[in-house]
Amino acid sequence: MIESLEGHVAEHLSLLTPVDQIWQPTDYLPDLTAEDWADRLRDFREAARAIPDELLVVLVGNMVTEEALPNYAVSLEHIAKDPTGAGEDPWACWLRGWTAEENRHGDLLNAYLRLTGRVDMRAVEVTIHNLIRNGFAPGHETHPYEGLIYASFQERATRITHGNLGKRAAEQGEPNLAKICRKIAADETRHEVFYTRMVAELFERDPETALMCYRAVLKRIVTMPGSRMTDGRDPDLFQHYGEVVQSTGIYTSRDYASVIRHLNAAWDLGNRSFSGKAAKVQDYLCKQPERYERLADDREGKPMEGPVSSFSWIHNRSLGEARRGPAL
Ligand SMILES: [Fe+2]
Ligand SMILES: [Fe+2]
Repeated sequence: MIESLEGHVAEHLSLLTPVDQIWQPTDYLPDLTAEDWADRLRDFREAARAIPDELLVVLVGNMVTEEALPNYAVSLEHIAKDPTGAGEDPWACWLRGWTAEENRHGDLLNAYLRLTGRVDMRAVEVTIHNLIRNGFAPGHETHPYEGLIYASFQERATRITHGNLGKRAAEQGEPNLAKICRKIAADETRHEVFYTRMVAELFERDPETALMCYRAVLKRIVTMPGSRMTDGRDPDLFQHYGEVVQSTGIYTSRDYASVIRHLNAAWDLGNRSFSGKAAKVQDYLCKQPERYERLADDREGKPMEGPVSSFSWIHNRSLGEARRGPAL
């Protein structure tokens, strides 16, 4: 079935932007070859001082997740089977093109953080190194449809995360980071469209299997791709990063619900006719957005509790107070 989507994949390869038309990290960084490079760098660093610690932690976690791209490329290899590594089949072309575009995200965020001097880059690098070694376990090794459904979910989730962080950076008075996040979010949007359309086609051609795979992905709670990150110091680093992401409002249960609501609509789930067990699964999936919205309502009324977290990424400074207080 995945192979039979080749024609559909080929029609959507235009969702990749040609190299001569796409941005590169250098476009959003100070020009270090310019004569006045030191002034440009100073201004760039000055602007970055507006970012509070909470947002820095979110930014580092997002960057570390992007930097573990080798893991995601490997995991999609079971869909885009390409033993030569340079095949011209549509799936192979998509996977390489997607990887090349995604590669710019980690590069740009990495360069931003390094040049601004706001974080402990060695601690961040150790986290990236560990994450790539630890791998990526989304749990969909059983069925390739699940990989595409997961990718649809994740591309939208990262688009929301980068988009919200960009808005927050703008509010804090950091236009450089705001622009960087906007650019990355726009890429994630094109990628999301691709994966979502591939899954829509699976719903047309093989609706029951697509439905069951969608349920399998949501049943597990969609694990974030960076969930195995560690800095070798905080055993619950990912959880602590996740708490900051939630408490700053960058990505919350409400966003999780909105992603499911969007995918349900994109795949026209409510209007498809299924019978028997599949109809029950359909019903279960249609109710998920409300379920997570209720969860978000419950959470929003309560202050976040838990131990005060400090992050090696920001020289072991603590964020406990910010987490307990109102969102930024
Ligand atoms: Fe990305
Ligand atoms: Fe992405």
